Amino acid sequence: MVGAGNGDREWLDRELPIVASGTEPWGVGFLTWAADAGAVEYALEYGPKAVMLSFGDPSPFVEPIRRAGAVLIIQVTDLEEARQAVDLGADVIVAQGTEAGGHGARHGRSTLPFVPVVVDLVGPVPVLAAGGIADGRGVAAVLALGAAGALIGTRFQATTEALVDPATTKAILEGRGQDTERSSVLDIARGSRWPSKYTARTLGHPYLDRWHGREAELAADPQAKQDYQDDVAQGTIPARPIWAGEAVDLITDLPSAADLVTTLATQAENALANAGRR
Ligand SMILES: Cc1cc2nc3c(=O)[nH]c(=O)nc-3n(C[C@H](O)[C@H](O)[C@H](O)COP(=O)(O)O)c2cc1C
Repeated sequence: MVGAGNGDREWLDRELPIVASGTEPWGVGFLTWAADAGAVEYALEYGPKAVMLSFGDPSPFVEPIRRAGAVLIIQVTDLEEARQAVDLGADVIVAQGTEAGGHGARHGRSTLPFVPVVVDLVGPVPVLAAGGIADGRGVAAVLALGAAGALIGTRFQATTEALVDPATTKAILEGRGQDTERSSVLDIARGSRWPSKYTARTLGHPYLDRWHGREAELAADPQAKQDYQDDVAQGTIPARPIWAGEAVDLITDLPSAADLVTTLATQAENALANAGRR
């Protein structure tokens, strides 16, 4: 899955041919609050097998995806979104718990109780569990909850292929779940237009400490936002927030993505076999 964000055409033209020529099957994801239907149609011309829609109303995007015959994946954070995804004919529903790294619902649900409720609600549509899964035990756990599989984000930032700077890799390898925090402070400080329904889970950051609980004040303070840009330019804070989920403690090595997938599968099989023996 290529995360295309708002679907900037130049970005799509640069990134999609790379994955389209070297990967089979592949898919592309959009932030539905930020993208327009034209961007999705544009990306479909590159022939993705799947399109994933997250964080916002997916309905304007469904028709072109259906017409192109691509698999429709919708990521949901509450039961209303899950029900809407079924009504829109989603082929796969991703149930995201609040442990997840990166963006998600401000008032989200924890993965453990949320996933089985979504499974019961949307069946027979397959559900992928997301949020707080970073090793095969987590994969096994969500299979036991009735999920068809897992969608994993944070763990893949610590792989040799990940396009993150070395400081981010180090922070992920050393980070602890208790050091992560869900907040909109960093989105406001960096001038990102994320709707207030969504916060992001990141590792600790000086601006989180400084502005915690004062989001409205920060939003109304142009100087604070300028300070943020200046601090980035001077290198005193990272260029981007370090998005990481609560399972970051479990990430201690830097494998290739392919080796990681193999390891996750082996660990999950072992965890399920061990659980069965018990
Ligand atoms: C660095 C990072 C970037 C992400 N970008 C996107 C994105 O562009 N679109 C999206 O739907 N989800 C995005 N997510 C969230 C994932 O879809 C997923 O819900 C989450 O990573 C699962 O939790 P985990 O990080 O604990 O594995 C991102 C997550 C991370 C950590």
